[in-house]
Parts: sequence; structure tokens; C-alpha cells
Amino acid sequence: MGVGFARIDLQEPESYFEAVTQAGGFDILVNNAGVLKDVSLLDRGSDFDVAMEVMVHAPLDLIRLNTPHWRASGWGRIVNLSSGWGSHAEGLQGPGAYGVAKAALNALTRALVRDLPPGVKVNACDPGWVATRMGGADAPLSAEEGADTPLWLALLPEYGPTGGFYRKRQPAAW
Ligand SMILES: NC(=O)c1ccc[n+]([C@@H]2O[C@H](COP(=O)([O-])OP(=O)(O)OC[C@H]3O[C@@H](n4cnc5c(N)ncnc54)[C@H](OP(=O)(O)O)[C@@H]3O)[C@@H](O)[C@H]2O)c1
Repeated sequence: MGVGFARIDLQEPESYFEAVTQAGGFDILVNNAGVLKDVSLLDRGSDFDVAMEVMVHAPLDLIRLNTPHWRASGWGRIVNLSSGWGSHAEGLQGPGAYGVAKAALNALTRALVRDLPPGVKVNACDPGWVATRMGGADAPLSAEEGADTPLWLALLPEYGPTGGFYRKRQPAAW
């Protein structure tokens, strides 16, 4: 087994369509990409469309593209990188379009359970405040620590959960 790389732009469906079809589908899909712009939803410069494309539309498209592979193999894992800012229970506090898009990604995570083929699990998670370009240098968690829950969800055994939202490997409130 080797490793392949493909550069894709989630705002350019052709780029990821090509990557998925050339690979023949993926067992594990981690929808990690995110964009955050601190601009009011009411501002003309709002990134609403970009946020929805990158964090909702493209993840759903990638899931659709991968579904024939999962249907054939009977095994798949989907991890949607969400955020506490997309949680209704926590007040949808993210700036601009970010929290709205993450809330939609969470909704997608719950709703997809009924449509995915058997053997495919889909879960969302909040990685915590992580020291990345988005999180900034003051964040308390390293990238490795932030990856713990997503990796756990990506490798869930057969008896693992599906359709959930997790933080620190524990259920989080929607
Ligand atoms: N960091 C935190 O504290 C934190 C907290 C809660 C949730 N999250 C979530 O965790 C995930 C990872 O965030 P991060 O902290 O690593 O953010 P980041 O440092 O800003 O990285 C975002 C990633 O998304 C990619 N991306 C953005 N737009 C894209 C597009 N159109 N096509 C392809 N890739 C695109 C970027 O690619 P390029 O490098 O090529 O631009 C980059 O790899 C995100 O979903 C974020 O919302 C992060």
C-alpha cells in the first residue's frame, strides 16, 4: 500500500471529483477543512457562501462520491470536524458564518445516518482550541492533541457510535 497526494480546492468540485474517482474511493473520509472570517452575517463581505461551500456542501459532495465504494466494501468512517461554536446548546457563538456552517455540518452528521450504507459510521467532533493557523499560538492544545478525538472516530470499531457529536472522546451537546 502506498501513499498518494492530491491537491484539491473544496470550492472547485472538479478537483475533488477527480481525486476521489482516481483513488477509487476512500475507506476513511475526514472532512477537516475550515474557514473562519470574523465578519457580520449582514455585511456584504460576509463569507457565508464560502463557509457553506467548504464546510457543508463539499463534505456532503465527498460523502456522495465515496458512497459507491462504501456500499461495495461494507466499511467506512466519516469524521466531520465541527466546533463548539456550531452547537445550539452552546449558543452558536462562532463569528459570522462559521457557527451557522458548523451547525449545518452537525445537522448533516445526524441526518446522514439514515441514508448511509450499513457498516459506515459518521460522527462530528470539536477538537478543542488548537494551536493552528485558525486557533493561533495562544491555544492550549497542540495539533497532535487536537487530532486525538478525530483519529479515535476515524478508527472506531464495529460496535462504536454513529451520528454523534464528540469532544475529548465524550458525547457533546448539539
Ligand atoms: N483550531 C481550532 O482551535 C479549532 C477549533 C474548533 C474547530 N476547529 C476545526 O478544525 C478543522 C481544522 O482547523 P485548523 O485549526 O487546522 O484550521 P486552519 O489552520 O485554518 O486550517 C484550515 C485548513 O482548511 C483548508 N481549507 C480551507 N479552505 C479550503 C478549500 N477551499 N479547499 C481545500 N482546503 C481548504 C486549509 O487549506 P490551506 O492550508 O491550503 O489553506 C487548511 O488546511 C476546521 O474544520 C476547524 O473549523 C478548529
